[in-house]
Amino acid sequence: MMNKINPADVPKKKLYTGEEIPSVGLGTFGSDKYTAKQVSDAVYGAITSGYRLIDCASVYQNEDKIGEVLHRVFTETDIKRKELFITSKVWNDMHREVMRSCEKSLKDLQLDYIDLYFVHWPFPNYHAPGCDGDSRNPDSKPFSVDEFMDTWKQCEELVDKGMVRYIGMSNMTISKLEAVLPLCRIKPAALEMECHPGFQQPELFEYALKQGIQPIGYCPIGSPSRPERDRTQEDVADTQMEEIVAIAEAHQVHPAIVCLKWAVQRGQIPIPFSVKEPQYLSNLRCVTQDPLTTEEMEIIRKADKNCRLIKGQVFLWPGASGWEDLWD
Ligand SMILES: NC(=O)c1ccc[n+]([C@@H]2O[C@H](COP(=O)([O-])OP(=O)(O)OC[C@H]3O[C@@H](n4cnc5c(N)ncnc54)[C@H](OP(=O)(O)O)[C@@H]3O)[C@@H](O)[C@H]2O)c1
Repeated sequence: MMNKINPADVPKKKLYTGEEIPSVGLGTFGSDKYTAKQVSDAVYGAITSGYRLIDCASVYQNEDKIGEVLHRVFTETDIKRKELFITSKVWNDMHREVMRSCEKSLKDLQLDYIDLYFVHWPFPNYHAPGCDGDSRNPDSKPFSVDEFMDTWKQCEELVDKGMVRYIGMSNMTISKLEAVLPLCRIKPAALEMECHPGFQQPELFEYALKQGIQPIGYCPIGSPSRPERDRTQEDVADTQMEEIVAIAEAHQVHPAIVCLKWAVQRGQIPIPFSVKEPQYLSNLRCVTQDPLTTEEMEIIRKADKNCRLIKGQVFLWPGASGWEDLWD
């Protein structure tokens, strides 16, 4: 059927255990633009269309609605829990109470276990959902290896207790990873990182692969609907980059599709967000057909603009000089 993609046709990536997971997932951050209901309807539509990887987080404020549709999937379709790979994340204000945060996500998602649980940001710095770009929390602190490892140990306990199968890190840098990886009892299975043609992070990407950590690329299309607080004048729009537009014309697809094909062929797992059925269908289908050529992959590699979109300035601490401080 036209509106279904066979999950078996979607390329897979291997985690360090050898387990295979889909090379594309659905993002669920509504960017303050879409309601929880719209996002959860898309999750239902995506799963019944062939998606098997769904990227959730407590801070997206929709895990309860997503839980309702997951329940519907398990009761109304033949799809089994073990066929899905569901992620969630502990938000910055719960670093000292990871167990409680995970219990809440499990309850909201109506699940017995989460497949991959991330530390969303390596700082305990909190900002209210929907705040503007200038808002700062006076209690914010710089990165601390000790505090991070305290949070990570709580994540390791979640694995021990069977509440989560894998744990992961997000928004890290090489120097932070170098500091914490030797201290981990259970290594991260994945690293969620901003990744799109205009911001490829080649060093961090290669570093993660060398450590056997699977990169998961967020904002894979350059997050065209991101909130105002995450926009600056200098930002490059991936879907308007001339190299991407030219390759899209050659393949007769939307530039967003070129970003996703590139991501999967390069080796990260993109987690594009969309609540629109034609978009989320083409975002999954595109990786099952008509790959980019080696030359096109090389053109995109060279087109990197090193343009970070999610700068994280709302997490800055008093005395920090600018958002670059978050990224070492
Ligand atoms: N770990 C972290 O800190 C972190 C940070 C950010 C994001 N994430 C995760 O990554 C996911 C993806 O990032 P994102 O949502 O910011 O950005 P994104 O996936 O790069 O962009 C999503 C937007 O792209 C447009 N789009 C999607 N498919 C399209 C298609 N086929 N053709 C044309 N336009 C298309 C849609 O815009 P319209 O809605 O305007 O149509 C959609 O809202 C999030 O949902 C979240 O799960 C994680």
